[in-house]
Amino acid sequence: MEQLLRGKHLITLDDWSKEEIEAALAASAELKRRRYAGEITNLLPNKTLFMIFFEQSTRTRNSMEAAMTQLGGHAHDLTADKMQISHGETPRDTGEVLSRMGEGIAIRNCFHGIGNKYLRDISANSHIPLISMQDDIYHPLQGIADLMTIREHFGGNLSRLKIAISWAYATSHSKPLSVPQSQILLFSRFGMDVVVGHPPEFPLQPEIVEKAKINAAGGGGKISFVDDMDAAVRDADIVIPKNWGGFAYFDDFVDDDEHRDIMQANLDRHRGWILDEKRYALARPGCKVMHALPADRGNEVTDAVLDSENSIIYDEAENRLHTAKGILSLTMVAGNARI
Ligand code: CP
Repeated sequence: MEQLLRGKHLITLDDWSKEEIEAALAASAELKRRRYAGEITNLLPNKTLFMIFFEQSTRTRNSMEAAMTQLGGHAHDLTADKMQISHGETPRDTGEVLSRMGEGIAIRNCFHGIGNKYLRDISANSHIPLISMQDDIYHPLQGIADLMTIREHFGGNLSRLKIAISWAYATSHSKPLSVPQSQILLFSRFGMDVVVGHPPEFPLQPEIVEKAKINAAGGGGKISFVDDMDAAVRDADIVIPKNWGGFAYFDDFVDDDEHRDIMQANLDRHRGWILDEKRYALARPGCKVMHALPADRGNEVTDAVLDSENSIIYDEAENRLHTAKGILSLTMVAGNARI
């Protein structure tokens, strides 16, 4: 089992078998238990992880850096502007060079239409594991932490558990498609009844939707789509209110007034897509509320719902640490295999 994931890249959990995902979840649970017991877990002594962020992060940056510290290694907290990437150094040169110096590379690049390709280009030239810290299509570290959290609250058998993933209004910043896309791909594989709610103007990528349907068929789960937030939330065991897809409206680098005006109108039209107490009451009694965070409080979801006794957002955030440790400890190799 220990060898199963050694040296493996993680760009999407769809590239990992269920056996590999279960191994990562088991390692994460064990590392969580050992942290609670106050044990030292030096599984990656003197190992280096290079973390390159093209965007801001609270949970991902700190869970990954804390994970490396708690595993006895070290993480370099890098941004693209600190590196020659900002002067156009190629993914090949970056991947090759970092592979000669450490045992893992982790990257967040959520630029629409760019991020996933960038990660794939680096991984093709990296001899050490490349771990996605989120791109424009996938956020596997969030997906696996969510799955761990759901299992902790609902047990191992998730079949017929109804999870509502609903688009919600936000004004804070452009939120990529990657969180809901990773969730629908993963949850359907593990037998859940996934209901996605979104206005027609904010769809998920068609190829991801088609793959999620295949995953549902293979995993015994279901996936359906509605264009009404009430319908999505009704009778749910878990609800996730989450904005996605406001491209160009929030992005300073986009100089396209026409696109911006259209997106502004699209957003304004759906200001009512909020998880408030009235809408939450449509769900099953005791329905758990999840959110990858950061939440746009008062727009995506009210404080009363997000801070209620059925909210498990902080368990979800904490599990980012334990799953980061599980994945890093299983994937990072002892040295550069090519040298
Ligand atoms: N959920 C998540 O990835 O949070 P950060 O953007 O803070 O890393």
